[in-house]
Amino acid sequence: MPAVVLIGAQWGDEGKGKATDLLGSRVDYVVKFNGGNNAGHTVVVGDEKYALHLLPSGILSPGVVPVIANGVVVDIEVLFNELDALSARGVDVSRLLVSANAHVITAYHRTIDRVAERFLGKRQIGTTGRGIGPTYADKINRVGIRIQDIFDEGILRQKVEGALEQKNHLLVKVYNRRAIAVEEIVDDLLSYRERLGPMVADTALELTRALDSGSTVLFEGGQATMLDVDHGTYPFVTSSNATSGGAATGSGVAPNRIDRVIAVVKAYTTRVGAGPFPTELHDESGEWLRGRGFEFGTTTGRPRRTGWYDAPIARYSARINGVTDFVLTKLDVLTGLDRIPVAVAYDVDGTRVDEVPVSQSDFHHAKPIYEELPGWSEDISGAREFSDLPKTAQDYVLALEELSGSRISAIGVGPDRDAIVVRHDLLD
Ligand code: GDP
Ligand code: IMO
Ligand code: MG
Repeated sequence: MPAVVLIGAQWGDEGKGKATDLLGSRVDYVVKFNGGNNAGHTVVVGDEKYALHLLPSGILSPGVVPVIANGVVVDIEVLFNELDALSARGVDVSRLLVSANAHVITAYHRTIDRVAERFLGKRQIGTTGRGIGPTYADKINRVGIRIQDIFDEGILRQKVEGALEQKNHLLVKVYNRRAIAVEEIVDDLLSYRERLGPMVADTALELTRALDSGSTVLFEGGQATMLDVDHGTYPFVTSSNATSGGAATGSGVAPNRIDRVIAVVKAYTTRVGAGPFPTELHDESGEWLRGRGFEFGTTTGRPRRTGWYDAPIARYSARINGVTDFVLTKLDVLTGLDRIPVAVAYDVDGTRVDEVPVSQSDFHHAKPIYEELPGWSEDISGAREFSDLPKTAQDYVLALEELSGSRISAIGVGPDRDAIVVRHDLLD
């Protein structure tokens, strides 16, 4: 099982970090292929809790080669800070590889992200303010700065000049901010050269060769299907392809090398930032889920919006990503509920709809059609076999499996590394 993609099925924060960590000891490479430090993965190892943003979660597994591939946008200062913080805690970060083709987040991208959001007023997306959107916009607009440019001072200066020529007009005339000097950006980027140099590689070549020689490569998606710029709830999305196809374009490993697609899905739903969310709860049940699931952003600390499980979204994810296995997380959070509503379809202006509607306005109007499943009150955090779960919890999992379009191969029953029930080996 050499190439495995792991992605989020909902709006992020499904527990991808923990799922990656679970597989970490059995893989040789863990590759981040999209997004940047907008991601926030919390991984609990014994008494230690790690919050990872830009680095793939696999960095916590000894022996794994972590890779930041071409599809990622890199804030180099954040990268070094994260590496330093992990080293200080005894994590070996020396094997990290960074693609020469990854794009660089600069000060002007961060500034534009924040002021553009402010100017959107009520139409705000609620971005993480890390400069993600503006950096991808420059990439697509062909005025981006890549990691390799930092090693060619002439080209770097030319590119920064070209980019700032446009940006400074925007910053000064539209957003009423100060202009940014070319030298400020160039000097900043050049100052990273020495430390960055040894990490930079042709990661597409390295990964393909690794697969050729029988290594196991895990592609870890940031964000999630419903935040994907093409397949999510546009425009309330991030600016990259967080779906499984992004693993190929975002790494340079051909799509026909990918053998397995694991989607991580929470036993309920959360979302950070603005945009449609059919099963969102605005009552005390929503508060209850937030408190029980500790649903506060790892990156921005914002309270996450919460709601019940949405099976049409799981089915949509299964289809768009070619999901072979689901990892269902945070089942333990639902303990204590008498009955658990699950959305099985939507009512869109009086019509029953079983698929995620393609029209933005239909999705905004979609009201969930719920089925209620019986809950359980027993503590399930010690369960390690499916048969350890109370019958109603087993039935809840089986009902979701039936509704969601692929098998549920593992079930998270707590934040700890070993708090998981494995039904089917994820790498076999
Ligand atoms: P990611 O962005 O998908 O990696 O997810 P986050 O780390 O942002 O959010 C998931 C949170 O849930 C983290 O705090 C994890 O420690 C925690 N978590 C993961 N799996 C489980 C689980 O099965 N049960 C509980 N209670 N917490 C979990
Ligand atoms: P992980 O990897 C949840 C959301 C932001 C905002 C939108 C666009 O931890 O699951 P951006 O800064 O990317 O331009 O913001 O996307 N968002 C996330 N929500 N989890 C994430 O990552 C997210 N990364 C971005 O809240 O709504
Ligand atoms: Mg997260």
